[in-house]
Amino acid sequence: MTAQIIDGAAVAARLRQTIAARVTDIKAKQGRVPGLAVVLVGEDPASHVYVRNKHKATVEVGMRSIEHKLDATTSEADLLDLVQRLNADADVDGILVQLPVPKHINADRVLQAIDPDKDVDGFHPINAGRLAVGQPALVPCTPSGCMILLKEALPNLNGMHAVVVGRSNIVGKPIAQLLLQADCTVTIAHSRTRDLPAVCRSADVLIAAVGKAEMIKGDWIKPGAVVIDVGINRVPAADGKSKLVGDVATAEALPHAKAITPVPGGVGPMTIACLLNNTLMAFERRHGKH
Ligand SMILES: NC(=O)c1ccc[n+]([C@@H]2O[C@H](COP(=O)([O-])OP(=O)(O)OC[C@H]3O[C@@H](n4cnc5c(N)ncnc54)[C@H](OP(=O)(O)O)[C@@H]3O)[C@@H](O)[C@H]2O)c1
Repeated sequence: MTAQIIDGAAVAARLRQTIAARVTDIKAKQGRVPGLAVVLVGEDPASHVYVRNKHKATVEVGMRSIEHKLDATTSEADLLDLVQRLNADADVDGILVQLPVPKHINADRVLQAIDPDKDVDGFHPINAGRLAVGQPALVPCTPSGCMILLKEALPNLNGMHAVVVGRSNIVGKPIAQLLLQADCTVTIAHSRTRDLPAVCRSADVLIAAVGKAEMIKGDWIKPGAVVIDVGINRVPAADGKSKLVGDVATAEALPHAKAITPVPGGVGPMTIACLLNNTLMAFERRHGKH
């Protein structure tokens, strides 16, 4: 047996096409398009790449991209002021403040200043709470993407034992909530979990969101399990350059798993597609669904 490779790039491309078609329809009917505002503070090179990719993807589906690139010395008060202006701007449907922000700015205070109905990253405690109690919420993008990929391989999750390795607020916890909503029995594992290999071996669905290169070995995977590898880790490559690997030792996992997401090309491409989907949802909640 060798695992099916779940093609995140293809699934993300399909989702972006669906979103683009909806945006075209909205434009024809309402004469306006959803707008996504992205705020970047400072010069972090990786953040600049992420923001550039988000801008490109936003424009490609026909939405309006509003970029605010602020100097690294911007004060927290000025950033909060910008967030308030974006909250009040009727043409802005989604607001995203790219993390990390410089150390002199309290990221929690900034994220909590975003109008929860425009919080397309889904990091606001109001959205985390709505998700936890099963109310309509803007759900963090990576967890949403994981669920879409998981359902590609396993449309009915009812009664499955899902193990989520990682309990961060942006990945592990929201994925666990989504799995619970999908009627899985959910175990959340973390750095203090005892006998992690045995816990993983009990999983019909294994979600790896740890941030440790290839930590999850082939023999930790229950035969026939579906594995979603969220990890993105840069490691030295044989040619002296570097390469990206996930949290799962993919080659070892292939003979055990039913299906697995690759790194790169698995969860990664879904994140931006789900950000666009959240922007569309935020627009539709504000202006009515068409
Ligand atoms: N594909 C994407 O678009 C995307 C998006 C976001 C993140 N990521 C990637 O996903 C990974 C996780 O991200 P994150 O933001 O959730 O990371 P994080 O905030 O650092 O959380 C990591 C989690 O893993 C747990 N952990 C660490 N070492 C462990 C070990 N040896 N055994 C068991 N659990 C362990 C930690 O446990 P404690 O809570 O006990 O410390 C923590 O809950 C990273 O590789 C990140 O780059 C990918």
